[in-house]
Amino acid sequence: MVPHPAPRWLRRPHSAAAQLAFGADYNPEQWPAEVWADDIRAMRAAGVNIVSLGIFSWARIQPSRDVHDFAWLDTVMDLLHAGGIAVDLATATASPPPWLTAEHPEVLPVDRNGATVWPGARQHWRPTSPVFREHALRLVRTMAERYADHAALAAWHVSNELGCHNIYDYSDDAARAFRTWLRARYGTLDGLNSAWGTAFWSQHYSDWDHVLPPRQAAAHPNPTQQLDFKRFSSDALKDYLRAERDVLRAVTPDVPVTTNFMVMRGIKGMDYADWAHEVDFVSNDHYVHPGPQALDELSFSANLTGNLAPGRPWFLMEHSTSAVNWQPVNLAKRPGELARDSLTNVAHGADAVCFFQWRQSVAGAEKYHSAMLPHAGEDSEVYRSVAELGRTLRELGPVAGSVRRPARAAIVFDWQSWWASEQDSHPTSRLDYRQEALDWYSAFLDLGVRVDVVPVDTPLDGYDVVIAPVLHVVPATLAQRLTAYVAGGGHLAVTYFSGIVDENDHVWPGGYPGALRELLGIRIEEFGPLPDDRRVDLDNGTTGTMWTDRIDVTAAEVEVLAWYKSGDHAGRAAITRRVTATGSATYVSTRLGATGLRPVLTEILDAAAVHSELPVEVRGLVELAVRGDHDTTFWFLINRTDEPVEVSEPGGDIVIGPDVAAGQPLALPPRAVAVLRRPTE
Ligand code: GLA
Repeated sequence: MVPHPAPRWLRRPHSAAAQLAFGADYNPEQWPAEVWADDIRAMRAAGVNIVSLGIFSWARIQPSRDVHDFAWLDTVMDLLHAGGIAVDLATATASPPPWLTAEHPEVLPVDRNGATVWPGARQHWRPTSPVFREHALRLVRTMAERYADHAALAAWHVSNELGCHNIYDYSDDAARAFRTWLRARYGTLDGLNSAWGTAFWSQHYSDWDHVLPPRQAAAHPNPTQQLDFKRFSSDALKDYLRAERDVLRAVTPDVPVTTNFMVMRGIKGMDYADWAHEVDFVSNDHYVHPGPQALDELSFSANLTGNLAPGRPWFLMEHSTSAVNWQPVNLAKRPGELARDSLTNVAHGADAVCFFQWRQSVAGAEKYHSAMLPHAGEDSEVYRSVAELGRTLRELGPVAGSVRRPARAAIVFDWQSWWASEQDSHPTSRLDYRQEALDWYSAFLDLGVRVDVVPVDTPLDGYDVVIAPVLHVVPATLAQRLTAYVAGGGHLAVTYFSGIVDENDHVWPGGYPGALRELLGIRIEEFGPLPDDRRVDLDNGTTGTMWTDRIDVTAAEVEVLAWYKSGDHAGRAAITRRVTATGSATYVSTRLGATGLRPVLTEILDAAAVHSELPVEVRGLVELAVRGDHDTTFWFLINRTDEPVEVSEPGGDIVIGPDVAAGQPLALPPRAVAVLRRPTE
């Protein structure tokens, strides 16, 4: 594992260190200059102390190749500083201006069918284009030199949401860079041919120049080629991030550099566990997708973000005050949701809470996206809720700098397994890696037991329980790590389609679950995926969907935790557990969903003596997250329900939340969050 760089946080006056940052993307170029002073007045009134500036300003800063106009940005920077508001200054490279793409259409991405991705929206640039890079890095250097000593500058914001729209580019630039990447990975064509299994379908390569990205083909492209292209595409954008970062570090070594990740539902292309090593602090954007697990997904994403650079504060760069504009139906947030969503991120270690965006646009594709200052103006529920959140975050100042307290259980998250397990030509096209991980997370929340969502390379020895859902790609070294973990007394659980392939997406032969067969003490000859309309009953009262396995138990120490009662495997094992001297290795062969996972998770937690820290009556109703430092521990109690909840014996002083009389329960209103302070034990 590459060590994280030394922790760095915002460059701010010492007096501002012990506060949470609060603010938004600020796009003053969308408004006449007369509005700016009023913006800053209203920001101050709401408690805003930081904004992200310049994200989409390239065309305004550089209206043509040889013309720069910084006067407006100088004015805005000065106004913000005078107002006591710090700036997370973007490098402005996210959306190339029309003159650049007109002069250099070769920077435009190409889709898998060979069609050009035209300008007209944003992020229409190839991650591997040398021409784009030359122009972008020149702008980055100009920005860095101009604002290096500006007192408002607290951090650099590289580009914006790298990969949101341009992660997969199939252009000739991409093809060239892909070949370079493959040469570095495999050294020789023999190495590539062997890794890609090109004996299949006459795909043997005799010249590097014949190797291409997986463009639209007659049938399923080579799976290892596809997997490598995913790896390459994540690396190509990471390389671009590093290129901007290195310019910034050279010019302003004392200013931390970040870029906004998108750890959230629906975003899959960037391996953020790998990217987290490249930034001075991790930033994330998160938008809630409505649905039964919306709140769980919010917590899951915040939790994973907090574990990308563990033990360090992170920056919530964007979320929404209310509706977004890009879902099929864009729901406004209900009372309490704005604060609850923000504070859930703080609970998982965020020391900054920012929104997209400050003032709601009146033109452009995002004019119906909510903002801190909505179309309705300051006399609005949204602005009042924003100002109230500003006050709450001030009261929460003491938590700034404290970090997430690790749980005793972990869910392993692995981008390689995510990418590989959902490829085409598999036993089912229905597998949803992130959903399976989220279902386990929901089961933990339902039981009131804290869990960390951690990247796969995280050291596991500190955890009593480790859940590895759909751990599909298991190189020999990972199998050894997991075996050692169980031998050391750890309690491991994996699910269907785990242990199946190595790092080249080649099947481990001899029966499934391949690399984990010995550890689990089972053997599977054939997969049993289920059609959408078929379910199977288990004898523990739960129901499986999507996948089943025909399990043979091969080790004496294996006990069956649940049997199939119906379906093709009726009477055979559905959930097994191999018990070692002090640890165990559990296998769950079907998709049980959040509710169905509860019984097996309870058995695993009991075996490991991991218990809920919450009073019995609120388990499942309240999420507990814990932050702390040497002296103080903060308990975040988040009401997950739309009803009031009473927490008996809350223990600790209230930092935020309702007052509690001695001996009385803490009465949490619907969707409310309370934070309690106690001495660190
Ligand atoms: C992303 C972008 C923002 C904005 C929001 C809208 O997060 O970074 O510029 O488009 O989406 O939700």
